[in-house]
Amino acid sequence: MAELVVASNRGPVQFEVDDDGNLTSGRGAGGMVTALGPALAGRAGTWVAAAITEGDRAAARRVARSGRLRTVELPQGPVRLRSLAFDPREYASYYNRVANRTIWFLHHHLFDVPRHPRFDRSFRVAWQHYEGVNRAFAAACDDEADQGAEVFVQDYHLALVPAVLRQRRPDLRVAHFSHCPWSDPGYFQMLPSRVATAIIEGMLGADLLGFLVPRWARNFLHCCLEAGYRVDFAASTVRTGDGRLVSVRTYPLGVDGDGLRERAREADARAQDRVVAELTRGRSLIVRVDRMELSKNILRGLEGYGMFLERNPRARGRVVHYALTYPSRRDLPEYQAYTAEVKHMVDSINERFRTRTWEPVVLELRDNYPRALAAMAAADVLVVNPVWDGMNLVAKEGPAISRRDLVLILSRNAGAADDLGPGALVVNPFDTAELAEAIAAALELTPDERAKRAALLRDGATALPPQDWFAAQRDDLAALG
Ligand code: F6P
Repeated sequence: MAELVVASNRGPVQFEVDDDGNLTSGRGAGGMVTALGPALAGRAGTWVAAAITEGDRAAARRVARSGRLRTVELPQGPVRLRSLAFDPREYASYYNRVANRTIWFLHHHLFDVPRHPRFDRSFRVAWQHYEGVNRAFAAACDDEADQGAEVFVQDYHLALVPAVLRQRRPDLRVAHFSHCPWSDPGYFQMLPSRVATAIIEGMLGADLLGFLVPRWARNFLHCCLEAGYRVDFAASTVRTGDGRLVSVRTYPLGVDGDGLRERAREADARAQDRVVAELTRGRSLIVRVDRMELSKNILRGLEGYGMFLERNPRARGRVVHYALTYPSRRDLPEYQAYTAEVKHMVDSINERFRTRTWEPVVLELRDNYPRALAAMAAADVLVVNPVWDGMNLVAKEGPAISRRDLVLILSRNAGAADDLGPGALVVNPFDTAELAEAIAAALELTPDERAKRAALLRDGATALPPQDWFAAQRDDLAALG
């Protein structure tokens, strides 16, 4: 049993079964692992996560047979992992239909409103699966947590866990952290009212609710107010039906600059320097690194780059756009269609502008973290233009490891804009003409101006490393107890 338990849908590593039946593991995708890995590694805590891949399920079965927890090695140290295997169909409806296609879409305003969402009978069944997975997570946390332990529940997949856990284990101190934005109340009320109520009630089972920036915390408070709770905006608290006060606080998250620079100097990342140099051949390098994700706004990013080439004929042949994207949520039809559209747009820009010796855009569609590090380190410009984003850690990783004083073009709708605004070129993510101008401006900045901005970006990016971010939540939770 542990004094510290963390629960998240995606764990710190992902297992695959190779052709010989052996298990291999790689880094789990997404910003949450970047945050929690360094925060938790080396501590005497347990991480409860879902078995997502067939490899994860095989690993979970092997551990269940041994009766012990698996210890996984992260770059920062070991972590004890409790992996939960679900019926694949129930897991798919919890993860795909409810968590990603509904709640994620809601908080990032991704619905194609004339057509979606539709909350029909099949959604009700999917919601029951979401409830079931949340109950299983709560039971596992209950199992793992020592008397009076602290439990840190992560993200929208597990919104119901705090309330279930409170019922089972009133002795625990529970925090929930949202790694994504929180939608405004009008949009939130698109959910069936029973579901909206359950999400708010579920989260209010915690003692402490954390958000990445004040905008998302404020939206949450407004949703509570609309739902009939007593909200004190000055104190940032919500009074629950049973008279408890829940604190709603903001914990901005940055990157561990030293750790990242060290990681970028490792052999696998350095080996990618040559690949990146070969691709650039002395041209200016514009990079993006994203999950293949609707909210990342990859299509408008490419469109802005195409417009930049159109309006700046002299730049043709002198720049290259390296778009590193890695597959995500491939079961969702929206993501499949989006991937196809991205490929199509890359092709059409290349067909229009390419020459015998120059390919304007190079799209990479696989998970290659060492190469992403090498590309960010060598980039002149990093484009981070999400439609909405809780924080966006790529916007912070790039400046932290840049060897060229990279210029950051950053969406104002990313939480990271709060910390990086003064050093970045901030854009409206829907205005592709503005993005085209920002790319031109970025490439024309003087070395002095670049250095000045890069210093601001580095400071903003590394001011709140994951260890401090997590420690602040632990301190607050202890003080509330
Ligand atoms: O950072 C937000 C987040 O949704 C995490 O909760 C999640 O693990 C990550 O992005 C990646 O998404 P997914 O786990 O669906 O691949």
